[in-house]
This record gives sequence, C-alpha cells and structure tokens, in this order.
Amino acid sequence: MSDERYAFAQSVARLAGALANRYFRDRERLTVELKGPQDFVSHADRDVEALLRREINAAFPQDAFLGEETAHSYTGPLERCWVVDPIDGTHNFLRGIPYWNVAVAYVERGRHAEIGAVFDPVHDELFHARRGAGAWCDSAAGRARLAVAGTSTLPGAFVALGHHDRAPDAHHLEIRRRMMVDGVSMRNFGSGALQLAHVACGRLDGFIELQLSIWDAIGALVIVDEAGGRSAPFMPSPVTAKAPCLASTPGIFAALAKMSEIAPA
Ligand code: IPD
Ligand code: CA
Ligand code: CA
Repeated sequence: MSDERYAFAQSVARLAGALANRYFRDRERLTVELKGPQDFVSHADRDVEALLRREINAAFPQDAFLGEETAHSYTGPLERCWVVDPIDGTHNFLRGIPYWNVAVAYVERGRHAEIGAVFDPVHDELFHARRGAGAWCDSAAGRARLAVAGTSTLPGAFVALGHHDRAPDAHHLEIRRRMMVDGVSMRNFGSGALQLAHVACGRLDGFIELQLSIWDAIGALVIVDEAGGRSAPFMPSPVTAKAPCLASTPGIFAALAKMSEIAPA
C-alpha cells in the first residue's frame, strides 16, 4: 500500500508542478488577491490544489485531504490523510522569482508523515522520501540519494531563517541577533518546504521558522530525517495552526535548538 502511495505522491507532485509552472510562465495574467496582510493568493493556487484533490480522490477515495487553500473546511483527524500545499512560496511565484514548489505529504496516523514529496518544477528537481527508505532527488541528472551536509559548528554555517511577513516578531529578531553574534550566514528564500528540502540535500545547513503551517513542513521533514538530518518535533495544535519548525545537520542541531528555544537540545 505504501509503495503505491509513494509512487503516486511523486507523480501527482510532478503533475501539479507542471500545471503550476504553466501559470508561473504566464503569471502576468493572474489576478492576485490578499488573504491577509502580505498573504497573497491567486487562481493558480486554487486550481493546482483542485487538481491535487481530484487526483488523490480518484486514486485513493478512502483517504482524507488537507490542502492549504481549503483548510478551513478540514474537520477530520490526521489519519490516512494527504496534506498539500499547491504552491509554497506564492510571493516568490507571483514576483517571478524561481524559488517555490508543490508540497505533498501522506500521513498515516498522528503528526508524522510517512511520505513527503517536494517538487521544484522550474529546476526540475523532485525531492522525495518514504520513512525508512532514504531520501532522494530526481532531476535531469537522474536519481541521487540525499545526505545532509557535515557542518558541525555554527560559525560559517549556512542557515535559512524563515519568516512570514504578516507581523513583526521580537523572538525572530532575537534569533537573528544570536545568529549574527555566532557568525551564522543567514538567508530567507521564502519557501518553507523548499528550504527544508535544501537542508536535506546539503545546500543549507539548517532551517528555522517560528510559525509554519503543517502543509509547509510535514512532508519536507521526512525528507530531512531520511537524509540523515535532525528535526525538532513539529506539533501544530490544532493541525491547522502554526507551529515552530527546526531542522538541520545533526552537528548544529543542539546549538540551533538552544539558540531558537524551539526544542530542548
Ligand atoms: C509561506 C512560505 C514562506 C513562509 C510562510 C509560508 P505560502 O507559504 O513557506 O516561506 O515564511 O510562513 O506561509 O503562503 O507561500 O504557501
Ligand atoms: Ca506554504
Ligand atoms: Ca501555499
């Protein structure tokens, strides 16, 4: 059963990514709406989510579905549930910045995903993992096994510190300050799932975001774990609430956990 869902997660992420990429190339025609301060959405997000829902319902009619754009109507527990973000990095997408992805996860029971797929259609990179079976990236170069970087000290570590621009956050600024003091190179590329996938493949050494949604994180965290990284328990409650997210190389995890106060070291 898992084999079937794992293969499906990869193909449906590709299918949704192809549709999203068509919208990306033609983005001048999109009508952009505001869901809240600095929180954008367009027809592309809704249409890609509708495709994901349709395909998932057709393939696994018994499974539940939780998607960002329809999350308000989600009532069930997180069991045999597909969790998707049709476009993660919408602000980049709408500005023509090629740093966004389609994120797909399958959760059997509880808060850990069994399967995660993060597809970056612009660069044709599909990051995917099934718990216990390693993490992989499929690209034009073929299939490669993922492994996190070997970074073990904070000075010079390359860490993404995410922040949604909806409101100022003193805790975020304090983490930034501490990182600066410790000589960490900080980035925020504006897509939670893709930054996590980039931790998994060693491009980044860590990722922190204080308020992340389940569809941004849950699938990508399996990919980090399976690539040999370490992640803090990610436990939004209720499931549609935001929660702190931390993942990194094993060597800097304790220091980042302490610095961010996200998890006990
Ligand atoms: C956002 C991105 C961003 C993160 C926000 C998310 P969206 O998702 O992942 O990097 O900082 O917290 O909400 O709105 O582009 O799907
Ligand atoms: Ca998102
Ligand atoms: Ca989104």
